[in-house]
Amino acid sequence: MLILGVESSCDETGIALYDTEQGLLAHALHSQVEMHAEYGGVVPELASRDHIRHVLPLTENVLKAANKTLQDINAIAYTQGPGLSGALLVGTSFAESLAFSLQIPTINVHHLEGHLLAPLLEINPPAFPFVALLVSGGHSQLMRVDGIGEYELLGDTLDDAAGEAFDKTAKLLGLGYPGGPALAKLAEQGMARFKLPRPLLNSGDLNFSFSGLKTAVLTLVNAHTNLDLQTKADIAWEFQEAVTEILTLKCMTALRETGLDNLVVSGGVGANSKLREKLNAATKRKLCKVSYPRLEFCTDNGAMIAFAGAMRLKAMQGNGNKSYGFSVRPRWDLAELQAP
Ligand code: KG4
Ligand code: ZN
Repeated sequence: MLILGVESSCDETGIALYDTEQGLLAHALHSQVEMHAEYGGVVPELASRDHIRHVLPLTENVLKAANKTLQDINAIAYTQGPGLSGALLVGTSFAESLAFSLQIPTINVHHLEGHLLAPLLEINPPAFPFVALLVSGGHSQLMRVDGIGEYELLGDTLDDAAGEAFDKTAKLLGLGYPGGPALAKLAEQGMARFKLPRPLLNSGDLNFSFSGLKTAVLTLVNAHTNLDLQTKADIAWEFQEAVTEILTLKCMTALRETGLDNLVVSGGVGANSKLREKLNAATKRKLCKVSYPRLEFCTDNGAMIAFAGAMRLKAMQGNGNKSYGFSVRPRWDLAELQAP
């Protein structure tokens, strides 16, 4: 079965073709980062208009790259939520109307389920059950995953998401948008000089809190009238150290408490090399396994949506949705999902 995947929940248009026998055939992405950079964050209306411009050309590109035609597609999977409603509407209406014209089924995918399953696109994919750390711009969650749609929330952020904390701290340091990768790059030049708090490190549960960390950075920034590059790099170093230390410790606690020995990391912050370094060392010490998506599939992309759709369609014996009516779900709790 050949599945077309469509992602348009935020500032990236992602399209992919996944074959249930041969795996991922092609994928294409258009990032709007440059367009939003001058505003210091995503402008929803601009995002929607840009998705409209790119969704068709990207689809044509992946079909060409995979040497397929529209008639070869058996089903269309698309992100129904969560995300920006206008942006979601572009991908959703495109997917449903194309499926209607081809008279093929659709599968509405939860964006975070896409992220969660992205590591399964790799060679030697992790087997269920596993603990998943989902760290993106909008979420920081620990889940127990027993199968497709079988997700138990173990811990969540009480305020900012990890990626959001990276972005806000980067802004305080005068770095561009999105701040995560820029802050990580600056931290490479930094060293241990400041000490930031580790909120909820020993809270005894699996929840996170990152907003206090950002406030502590603000206090440090305000204390320096002349914030030179080395000081900025040292703050970035310590901030990254604090976030990755908290995430690593909570992952290890989640593994211990669930009795599982398999950890899966996904979402944009999963691309952070310091986090990977710490998780690799900690899991090795405890004889556990850790898996990540390849770097380009940590952030938003169409491949993870096509794959999640394919998994669901397989479980439903190919019986996707054929009503072609549509709505988007800008707010949608992952724990609400059910096994297909
Ligand atoms: O998963 P994603 O593309 O979008 C959401 O669904 O939110 O994640 C984007 C987030 C942003 O906050 C970005 O700053 C962060 O992931 N990010 C990083 C890195 N690469 C992306 N944070 C830290 N280190 C990185 N290397
Ligand atoms: Zn995402």
